[in-house]
Amino acid sequence: MKLKIAVFASHGGSNLQAIIDACRNGVLDAQILAVISNNADSFALERARAAGIPAWHLSAASIPDGENLDERILKTLEAAGVNTIVLAGYMRRLGSALLARYRGRILNIHPALLPKYGGKGMYGERVHKAVLANGEEESGATVHLVDDEYDTGRILRQESVPVMPGDTAQSLAKRVLEVEHRLYVEVLGLIARGIIQL
Ligand code: GRF
Repeated sequence: MKLKIAVFASHGGSNLQAIIDACRNGVLDAQILAVISNNADSFALERARAAGIPAWHLSAASIPDGENLDERILKTLEAAGVNTIVLAGYMRRLGSALLARYRGRILNIHPALLPKYGGKGMYGERVHKAVLANGEEESGATVHLVDDEYDTGRILRQESVPVMPGDTAQSLAKRVLEVEHRLYVEVLGLIARGIIQL
């Protein structure tokens, strides 16, 4: 099955960019059919538009009162022909309709070595601060499937990075993010080639 992806992102979208670039230069055999953001100001929307990918700001603020946001997202994905959802810094929990329809085909990337440093409230700088506070010698990135809980779905791949003396949350985040870009593309490639089965 050809990977027909929707990428969901709330902020900078550097993982989105890595996936766009990999599709463009032929490293990854997949199509990005939609980019969805709950944040109108997300740079991810600009990256999508610059690459000619249909992009939507979908949030409670962008849809009429009374309309269900998850139903709207679901309709958008189905109309676009999406078969796989890639979460890349998406800061909103998915609704049950979306989770049910795409069960087993929703991926996320987390900036730590799950199951450590995951769960509700563990995102962004908080993750890296906790890693440093515990004196860990390594951290890393994890690509996993999304289930009904936070960060508990099947782990598909992980890659570690060293924690260096003098690291700050920012310097560690930067080191992890570089790995994320490579790891996400690699995992999507393994899925596209049937080596990882969803
Ligand atoms: C990444 O660190 C990812 O692990 C986390 O959110 C961040 C997104 O970064 N879930 P970007 O928007 O892809 O640059």
